[in-house]
Amino acid sequence: MTTTPHTVTLTDDATGRSWKLPVMEGSTGPNVIDIRKLYGETGFFTHDPGFTSTSSCESKITFIDGDKGILLHRGYPIAELAEKSDFLEVAYLLQFGELPDPVQKKEWIKNITYHTMVHEQLSTFFNGFRRDAHPMAIMCGVVGALSAFYHDSTDIHDENQREIACHRLIAKMPTLAAMAFKFALGQPFVYPQNSLSYAENFLYMAFSVPAEPYRINPVLARAMDKIFILHADHEQNASTSTVRLASSSGANPFACIAAGITSLWGPAHGGANEAVLKMLMEIGSKDRIPEIVRRAKDKNDSFRLMGFGHRVYKNYDPRAKVMQQTCREVLAELGIKNDPLLETAMELERVALQDDYFIEKKLYPNVDFYSGIILRAMGFPMSMFTVLFALARTAGWVAHWQEQFREKEQKIGRPRQLYTGAVERSFVPLDQRK
Ligand code: ACO
Repeated sequence: MTTTPHTVTLTDDATGRSWKLPVMEGSTGPNVIDIRKLYGETGFFTHDPGFTSTSSCESKITFIDGDKGILLHRGYPIAELAEKSDFLEVAYLLQFGELPDPVQKKEWIKNITYHTMVHEQLSTFFNGFRRDAHPMAIMCGVVGALSAFYHDSTDIHDENQREIACHRLIAKMPTLAAMAFKFALGQPFVYPQNSLSYAENFLYMAFSVPAEPYRINPVLARAMDKIFILHADHEQNASTSTVRLASSSGANPFACIAAGITSLWGPAHGGANEAVLKMLMEIGSKDRIPEIVRRAKDKNDSFRLMGFGHRVYKNYDPRAKVMQQTCREVLAELGIKNDPLLETAMELERVALQDDYFIEKKLYPNVDFYSGIILRAMGFPMSMFTVLFALARTAGWVAHWQEQFREKEQKIGRPRQLYTGAVERSFVPLDQRK
């Protein structure tokens, strides 16, 4: 980031006073107006609920051009990473800025693989949950609880401990996610297998049972890995910003990632993949699509087309394209022909993309539009969809969490507000209140 000679002048029309604000430029993307001294110099705050025009930090991890539908991790296009790389390599790239060389890759995989088991006592923790608990509720609890088990990686000022915390989080998320799944099914937890790849190991822990051998389908394992890559990071989205904000107070890494999980859970964010599938099931058949599209456009109806629209993308989400292709591959591998949900989804996409409302508002399918169909075909219940998202996004969360410590300015995140409540008044004793 560099401060340019370019400035922007802010003028208060009421008093005629004006101030010059510095402009900063990144390596690509829009420049930003530096308002850090604004309040001190002008007495004004800026008001930006939802942070639609606010850069909250400097980052080198991920770049998105929402108008062009571009997503780059450390400069590499997402489609290329999904095709040519693997999830652990992408996690390394996010964290360290470069693709690993063969020695670094081997070492990284070893570090992750040898942290996949969870403290045995943590398994008893699961019994405190109701059997019908939503797995995301379980994940919020157990990931936060890691801080009670791994004290030797909670000192955020120790670089080595931070590194180990990242290994642990990336490594243990599949184990915990599979445990949350098994707990709901009432099946025994399955221990990780070090001979398997990250995605294979997760499928093995989720779907194998002690009663019979489990054969890993390489097409499904590759699809799982791709889904993880597509969800690995997405710059300063709600959950990543939540992780950064939680971390800015000095909270430990496990607590910060648990905070990210809670934020991801909402249907406007990671919960959308679950909502998309529910919507497609409710639609039921293609005949009902016009009615659904009408409802989505109706200002008096709170219904939205789930899996459509994005705060940043005003074009096709590049992840959705890869996801659609992966969806076809998985359904073909599983011998699912003419899946009614896929047909409904594709028809809905076709109708919406030709509709003036969606064209004008630049609403395109996002990453969640097709992911639910794949995950369901692979055997995951809807309640697990967001858990898988959280598993993958952990790679991005920990990369951002680490990046924060490299910033020159370590400041607690503390937005201000536009106060519109009561002004100062005297306390009224109870017997005088009406
Ligand atoms: N269906 C119908 N109308 C929509 C949709 C939709 N899915 N999304 C946005 N709009 C409309 C809004 O009603 C609004 O209309 P208006 O300008 O007439 O008031 C306009 O488009 C802009 O929408 P906002 O909500 O202001 O846009 P914002 O950037 O805040 O929201 C969001 C983005 C939350 C993703 C939104 O598009 C949405 O709710 N989509 C459905 C949920 C979803 O798929 N979420 C997943 C996001 S991707 C992810 O987290 C991985």
